[in-house]
Amino acid sequence: MKKTIKKPIVTFIPFTRPTIDEATIRAVADVLRSGWITTGPNVKALEKSLSEYVGGREVRTFTSATGALEVALQVCNIGPGDEVLVPAMTFAATANVVLRVGAKPVFVDVELATRNFDIAKAESAITKRTKAIMPVHFAGLPVNMDALYKLAKRKNLRVIEDAAHAIGSAWKGKRIGSFGDLVCFSFHPNKNITTIEGGAIALANADEARRVDVLRFHGQQRDAAGNIDYVEAGGKYNLTDVAACVGVGQLRQLEKFNSRRRTLAMRYFEKLHTTPAMLLPVHGDAGHSWHMFAPLLPLDKINITRDEFIRAMAARGIGVGLHYPALHLFTLYRRMGNKRGDFPHAEQIGDSTVTLPLFPAMRMSDVDRVCRACAEILAAARKR
Ligand SMILES: Cc1ncc(COP(=O)(O)O)c(C=O)c1O
Repeated sequence: MKKTIKKPIVTFIPFTRPTIDEATIRAVADVLRSGWITTGPNVKALEKSLSEYVGGREVRTFTSATGALEVALQVCNIGPGDEVLVPAMTFAATANVVLRVGAKPVFVDVELATRNFDIAKAESAITKRTKAIMPVHFAGLPVNMDALYKLAKRKNLRVIEDAAHAIGSAWKGKRIGSFGDLVCFSFHPNKNITTIEGGAIALANADEARRVDVLRFHGQQRDAAGNIDYVEAGGKYNLTDVAACVGVGQLRQLEKFNSRRRTLAMRYFEKLHTTPAMLLPVHGDAGHSWHMFAPLLPLDKINITRDEFIRAMAARGIGVGLHYPALHLFTLYRRMGNKRGDFPHAEQIGDSTVTLPLFPAMRMSDVDRVCRACAEILAAARKR
């Protein structure tokens, strides 16, 4: 008789995965059956809940954070001839939107430890043309908000926070989005909460919120009698009610999700010991929303490349992400004169960063498995 060999079942651990509960799925089905699936009561409900979440500020939803960032720049009347400071290590959207409104993104190096915008370096990049600072709260760790807003005030600059990673993050106990200038969130499926695709902007000024209404929907304005006029060349960024319904269900669980993310991140700090050592992210205080856990590989001490490391992890059933290559080295930004050597920390991070799995449905044993895999792969690759 043929002997059957039982292979152990090893489940694949992706680097991220959204958690959508059954109540949300049922609510989405109700929206689909309702006859009203585009912007409607669910968008209103999500905007109201988000506003409450950020302490009552004006909030408008979008089809993406990219759209929200672009409109934020328009609200600040930033355009041709203006400069906007952006980190040299971030997702492409942060700088692309500056180009899309006709302004120039000016890169600033990040700090190696926090991966965040270096505020001192930002100050030295300010020129007469600088109109705004656009920091990213990388992986959910807030930038130094005291230093940032002090600088913006002293130099009379707008701040557009790219808070794509930072829903639920806090600075000194105050939620990101509950204070400051214009704050843009992302609800892409890999973020801490999702609307499938989507984003939002939180802002302090009611007049600017009304301008957002106009700019996010065709430049359309209605008078008291309901007559329509077009007053600007607006875009079309309105969220659907189906997406917003997902968001309402997600926002209800945000605190639970972020607390689980934190527990898992702490497990990484406890268990991720490799030889040679990886450079771990900073621990962060309670205000870190742990959108990602992204250590740096000790590439000078191992004889494999990052791609080989990622493949070795994949062979063990573990997905690894890459957030982010240095932005100034992509073709679009090289064409503008940026080159290797300009922003050494962004380049070091961009060359050696790996994003390890972190999402609320992960088990502690999954983190342990990831840590063991990293330790084995690096030990085998260690330069002797
Ligand atoms: C830092 C940062 N900014 C902006 C974005 C754009 O977000 P969205 O996909 O919602 O447009 C992302 C998305 O990954 C991001 O990570």
